[in-house]
Amino acid sequence: MKKIQFIKESLKNIKEVGTIFPSSKFVVAKMIAPINFGEKLTILELGTGSGAITKKLLEKMSSDSQLICFETNKKFYQELQQINNEKMILINESAEKMKLYLKEFKIEKVDYIVSSVPLLTLPKEKTHKILSISVEILGKSGKLIQLQYSKLLDKRLKSYYSNIDIQFTPRYYLPAFIYTCYN
Ligand SMILES: C[S@@+](CC[C@H](N)C(=O)[O-])C[C@H]1O[C@@H](n2cnc3c(N)ncnc32)[C@H](O)[C@@H]1O
Repeated sequence: MKKIQFIKESLKNIKEVGTIFPSSKFVVAKMIAPINFGEKLTILELGTGSGAITKKLLEKMSSDSQLICFETNKKFYQELQQINNEKMILINESAEKMKLYLKEFKIEKVDYIVSSVPLLTLPKEKTHKILSISVEILGKSGKLIQLQYSKLLDKRLKSYYSNIDIQFTPRYYLPAFIYTCYN
């Protein structure tokens, strides 16, 4: 998808998309840095957009790993359908439905949740559901990697996770904070 199409789609749904540009390569690099790709992984990606992070994840994940992507926006979903990769399952549903799909696919352990859903601009109830379901799914062994454009959600994230590492990159149109959270 061309950057201009991403911008148009974002402007139509700014609260849902949360930014007007796809993640830069600098943001993507920081989002995938905490992941140990040397083992078979199950990763959930929340808010795949046009696939900036998705494509890098697929490139790095071993052939027996699995990436399950949730994207609510129809246009982005259609764009992502063009990625033909056996490791990826693409779902045009809200991240709140994660648990239902894990049950359907009989997946019991998730190693990482890589999320760029705009937790600050989504309705509060939705944000709460996504965070509480994520922490439950990850248990003691998994990690949430969450992209944010401000530090306003720090307190909220700290109420779900006892360990939080924050990385920052100014190399994007907005300052980007990358949170790695685990218990
Ligand atoms: C900030 S954009 C990030 C897009 C892409 N991952 C990137 O880094 O360029 C957030 C994405 O989350 C999607 N989104 C918003 N709410 C969602 C939800 N509840 N479940 C799944 N995706 C959602 C939006 O449609 C948008 O594509």
